[in-house]
Amino acid sequence: MVSDIIASCYPFPFTIGHGHDVNCSLLAGDRIYSYEEAKISQVMHDSCSRFPERALFLGLRQFGIAPRDVMHWVWGVPNQVNVAAALEFFYSLMKCESYQALSEQGRVHFVSHHKAHAYLAIMTSPFADGCFLTLDGGGDEAQYTDSTWGVFEDRRIVSSESSKGGHGLTLFHGYVCELVGYLNFADHGKLMGLASYAEPPEELCKELRRYLVADHDGMNFRLSLERPGQSTVSAKRIRIDAYDQYKTLHQPNPPAELVELTKFYPAHQVAAAGQRVFEDCLCEIAATLVRRTGKKNLVLCGGAFHNVCANRRIHELGCANVFVPMGVGDEGVSLGAAFSLLAEKKGASSSAYSYLTPFLGPQFSDEEVRRLVQEYGLLCRHFESEEEQCRFVARSLADGQIVGWFQGRAELGPRALGARSVLADPRALKSKARLNQLLKRRDWFMPFAPAVLEGYEEAYLESYTRSPYMTMAFRATEKAKREIPAGIHVDGTCRPNCVSRATNRKFYRLIEEFMALAGVPAVLNTSFNRHGIPTIASPRQAFEHLAEGAVDLLAIERFVVFPSPGREAQPGVILDERVFLAFESIKPILKAWARGDEVREAVRRCEPEIVRGLGLEWTAGELRFLGHVFRREQVGESAEELLQACRGALEAQAGLVAGLSAGPLRR
Ligand SMILES: [Fe+2]
Repeated sequence: MVSDIIASCYPFPFTIGHGHDVNCSLLAGDRIYSYEEAKISQVMHDSCSRFPERALFLGLRQFGIAPRDVMHWVWGVPNQVNVAAALEFFYSLMKCESYQALSEQGRVHFVSHHKAHAYLAIMTSPFADGCFLTLDGGGDEAQYTDSTWGVFEDRRIVSSESSKGGHGLTLFHGYVCELVGYLNFADHGKLMGLASYAEPPEELCKELRRYLVADHDGMNFRLSLERPGQSTVSAKRIRIDAYDQYKTLHQPNPPAELVELTKFYPAHQVAAAGQRVFEDCLCEIAATLVRRTGKKNLVLCGGAFHNVCANRRIHELGCANVFVPMGVGDEGVSLGAAFSLLAEKKGASSSAYSYLTPFLGPQFSDEEVRRLVQEYGLLCRHFESEEEQCRFVARSLADGQIVGWFQGRAELGPRALGARSVLADPRALKSKARLNQLLKRRDWFMPFAPAVLEGYEEAYLESYTRSPYMTMAFRATEKAKREIPAGIHVDGTCRPNCVSRATNRKFYRLIEEFMALAGVPAVLNTSFNRHGIPTIASPRQAFEHLAEGAVDLLAIERFVVFPSPGREAQPGVILDERVFLAFESIKPILKAWARGDEVREAVRRCEPEIVRGLGLEWTAGELRFLGHVFRREQVGESAEELLQACRGALEAQAGLVAGLSAGPLRR
């Protein structure tokens, strides 16, 4: 530990360039703060704020320090320094010494993007020695880099290589996102979720793989496809209460070769093939790195490792002990940059940060919450005893309630780890549907994850290795599938939050109370945010979620707050998962038909039972949804007409689908 206070911000604000997930960290002795501006601005992947100003001041408040107390300022490497703006910033806004003076005194430091990723993993890992691998969409404009890899000893990097570009595996995964109608950068998680619904077609995997060319002796894959032209801006897509700059500025725009290659495949098969190829390549890189360095400890960081299925595959290779830190994307860059300064300039090599707690964000007092309770005039109960409060919340969960859980310091990163979480009963599949209706409105294929008590991992997870940040998926045991089905994905895996008494005592206690009532050592856990916004930061946002009916009740610090009578959300139409799969499957058939192509190829690639599902009796709600989907796909206008057309197209190919009207898809 060092006594000098370090402030680290990402990206460097006084430059021509474009960063996202703007974030800042403070290191003050053994106290650490790290948080993202997006959670405060409520702009997804915030790339509009030039500087994490509010996140920084919340941190200064948390530690009771002023900007002038900061000894070292750490930044991402800039394209160029706008000295006039930096002068103005430090002197006028931060009331510090001038930028020039700070610079001359050696108190300003620049750390490259991928080095920051690497040091976050190295310093928070359980390993003093090992090898590291970073991979993302290209770092930042100052130093476009896809990936870095090398060796660390005594927690310092001793050798490192890199691959320049922004044109590698992550972009490949992004193009596959766009092939199924989602977006590069914004929707990688959706592709991963959808991929579990199909076996990857072997021939498509082979074809996709041809576009990835190994270089750097197998340590990198370069995508041999030209970037398509600029996608068009769609101002129509702007959502003022759920702003996402990337989604406003970009439309799916995949390369024509890939569109042609995949045009007859249903979306879930395309997703499965893309995900499989991505995982295979990552596994090859990881195995090559371990073999060449002879190191048996491997740490991974960078946005590509948000892909928990790929992380699981690397872990299951068994060639190394694998660690993936919290804040694995750019949201962790400021903390990693601060750690790099500690390791390289301050000589810190201890294990003090190993398995660092993720609860590094701001905290709010009971008094602040009390004022809001009075302001909103809501019915609430204050608990003197933590045990009693946990028992009350556990009972509500067991009764099927959806609970907003806002406790202590916030987590760093996009995963809810029991500080800004929404919780439900994992025993009932209907919990997923309720969470979706009230809060998330997610795509139908997206899984929800369980929070599992430490000590019960082996009962629920196969080949478990310590993973406290929800950065790795595991195969679920039969016991888990039986006992907590709402937390298990369709492919039999889950991405658990393993809850430790040492780092989150109150959440641990809540799950213990739930276990006493429900018999399972887990709750269903998702991030505290309605659809389209980042995880919330403030108590007021939590109250707004309650007032909107997004949660049934709110457990905030020592209060449990109840909604106004009449504000409870009404259930809507719940669509069967297999209906969605039928939609995905008939899309290529309809598209082929609309293009005037023969539908034979598209039909051949559909699973027979799904095609047979075209004979099912559609409900009014399903038809409305079908109409919505196909209008978005620009195939036609009326759902009934479309369905008719699809049946007609299939019947025209006599003998292709023997069981077309053999019976409904659903039970
Ligand atoms: Fe990155």
